[in-house]
Amino acid sequence: MPTRRAVAQAPSKVIITGEHFVVHGAWALAAAVGRKVRVEVRPSASLDISSDKFGGRSKESLSPAIKVVEALAKEYSFRPNLSVSISSDIPDGAGLGSSASTMVALTSAVSRSCALDLSTDELVKFSMVGEREVHGNPSGIDPTVCAEGGAILFRPGEKPRPVPLPGSRRFIVVYSGKKRNTGRLVSHVAVERSRMPNFFGGLADSVGDLSIRAAELLSAGDMGGLGRLLNLNQAVLSGVGVSTPDLDMLVDLLISLGCDGAKLTGAGGGGSVVAVAPEGKEKRIIPEVSARGFEAFVAEIPVEGVKSWLER
Ligand code: PMV
Repeated sequence: MPTRRAVAQAPSKVIITGEHFVVHGAWALAAAVGRKVRVEVRPSASLDISSDKFGGRSKESLSPAIKVVEALAKEYSFRPNLSVSISSDIPDGAGLGSSASTMVALTSAVSRSCALDLSTDELVKFSMVGEREVHGNPSGIDPTVCAEGGAILFRPGEKPRPVPLPGSRRFIVVYSGKKRNTGRLVSHVAVERSRMPNFFGGLADSVGDLSIRAAELLSAGDMGGLGRLLNLNQAVLSGVGVSTPDLDMLVDLLISLGCDGAKLTGAGGGGSVVAVAPEGKEKRIIPEVSARGFEAFVAEIPVEGVKSWLER
């Protein structure tokens, strides 16, 4: 199979509502955001993967990416003789989908290089090979939103529902500076579920309803109403033990600075917080948060999903 030099770029993501419960079948709401991973592939004598992120770390960090390329090579019967280079401006372990974004951009770049012409569903399917390697039992929400772009309602086993966004919407994202391990937190929630399956089932149903309502409010531009749902969702996430004193402190700080609502985003245990503020207030809130030593930025949506192209 002929291979050519190709590049793909995938966005990062925020989960707006429904993380963790999505692993147990609830609807969750997520959006692609503007920080990106870029993957370049070119023909080579053997499979060789390098990353600006993992440069100083063990080759084990690259094993999910290797698994993705090998799975594609097996399925489409080609030799994985590719030189892959990954560069990213997404902080690793921040709950912003760094691994999913990498897997999606990698799959898309290989697809373009080898003229596989993979659909979005297929890009997600192969990205999941790497995601499983990274954190065991992923729901698939992260690679789906990185591939699709925009905002989506997602539930495992169903077609993602794009959320119409007439005009742009703004979120504040604050990174706590603490990395965490998604797999460990997902396992922790599974143990909580096994302790009280009926109660947990009720919570999952309620969080699924909350996500559907959150999507309606997001679509309608009712960011104040959405903020109140973020607060409610944070209370539930805190109740199942995935928030931390640092994340609670950031949530309280953002509310005290005038946000309508705030919650952890992604697996929790560290990572990032997402918040909504009345229009125009972000400009005042971001410097206040940055002055306390946290990385904070405005994420404006919608952002397009993965794209790839051939390079000369
Ligand atoms: O790895 P993160 O922080 O992007 O979290 C993923 C969201 C979870 O719901 C916790 C896990 C999943 O696979 O849905």
